[in-house]
Amino acid sequence: MMVSFFQACLRLGADTAVKLTDDEKAILYGSQGLARQKAMELLVRYGEALGAERLIETNNVISAVNAAYRAPSSGPEVSVEASFAEFNLDSDQPLEIPHVKAYSCRVITGFESENWKVMGFSDEAAAVNRKVEDFCSRIGIHLMNTCAPYLVGNVPVRGEHCAWMESSAVVYCNSVLGGRTNTEGAESSGAAMLVGRTPYWGYHIDENRLGTHLIEIEQQPESVMDWGLLGYFAGESVGESVPVFNGLDRAPDIARLKHCGAAAASSGGVEMYHIVGYTPEAGTLNQAFGKKRPLAKLKFGPAERKSAYDNLISATDNSVDFVMMGCPHYTIEQIWNACKLLEGRQVREGVSLWIFTPRALKSIADKQGLTKIITEAGGHLLSDTCPCISLMFPRGARTAATDSAKHAHYMPAMLGLPTWFGSLRDCIDAAVSGKWRGELK
Ligand code: F3S
Repeated sequence: MMVSFFQACLRLGADTAVKLTDDEKAILYGSQGLARQKAMELLVRYGEALGAERLIETNNVISAVNAAYRAPSSGPEVSVEASFAEFNLDSDQPLEIPHVKAYSCRVITGFESENWKVMGFSDEAAAVNRKVEDFCSRIGIHLMNTCAPYLVGNVPVRGEHCAWMESSAVVYCNSVLGGRTNTEGAESSGAAMLVGRTPYWGYHIDENRLGTHLIEIEQQPESVMDWGLLGYFAGESVGESVPVFNGLDRAPDIARLKHCGAAAASSGGVEMYHIVGYTPEAGTLNQAFGKKRPLAKLKFGPAERKSAYDNLISATDNSVDFVMMGCPHYTIEQIWNACKLLEGRQVREGVSLWIFTPRALKSIADKQGLTKIITEAGGHLLSDTCPCISLMFPRGARTAATDSAKHAHYMPAMLGLPTWFGSLRDCIDAAVSGKWRGELK
């Protein structure tokens, strides 16, 4: 049997730089099989690179399981288990993957599992996806398939240590719920699923969760679009730091918080923000900053709002042929709002309207007739993926429109689509008329 570097160290009595408990050392030494041993090795290596002093227990993991599986037509078949070993556990040897230890959910995927033909996927890709889903189910990964797991039952409590992927989910977890996570990769979250541990660093530590930049609100954000603009401005202004919004005069709802965080994580790398008086770790300004002083004091007023809006618009042609909504995945209320604007109207010929939501909410929308309203209008309610993750969009589309600051930020670069950004009403009007008439009001 090959002896790894870590096993050799432990046999010699040496310690890893990351301090391990006896149970963790036993896993690292192979007491629970090769796959968990590889997972622990990966987490120790990762923790050492990050300067983490120890690991922390987690029972809430969001991870990706999909990318590596190769369809038989594109080369010799690789089993899902083998690709999980390689891409989630960094193992160059095949492993038998055991049942996960931590409560684990699959993040948004690159595939639409019900209406794949609408998005242009092949039946072969559908068969591959089924194999991946079977594998996930067998080892206990829940098929939430969304970037917004907090909409469908994975709602960490304040202080809960998590290991989540997906920037918009991470910023929501830290900021709105008071859960604690860094932005994990497929490898670190894959390993966390198997051993229920993650390195103790970054946003797991109290001090790193304090605010760094103060943003005084001089123009109250009202609409979901406004909250996207506020988040986009914040990310542009603070990069990867922790903005504190002060002066909000009312509580935002889930959709507004979702769009704000996703935008801030796109224009910058914001993983946590505070709203004084509303988010759980910012009851007061003093609580948001602790003993720290703000590195900078900024304001968000009409000029900043306009500048964020201008920076998000990449289209010039007001003929629109692709309208995308549901980034992050739509709440049921957002679907309902779209239906109210769509009912009795028809999407213009030559225009594609795609709305994305978690599969669990899609099933509710199906049952209560919302999907039917969208379909009868000529649009599609889709789940499990989005255009920027799947890299799929309507063939031949030239100009897009969206109500998501995050998708407006990414579509030009990732899909080569010049994009308009606006409100839900602007987007539905564009889908029906084929023309963009939105503006900043
Ligand atoms: Fe989700 Fe895709 Fe947007 S992952 S946050 S819908 S870019």
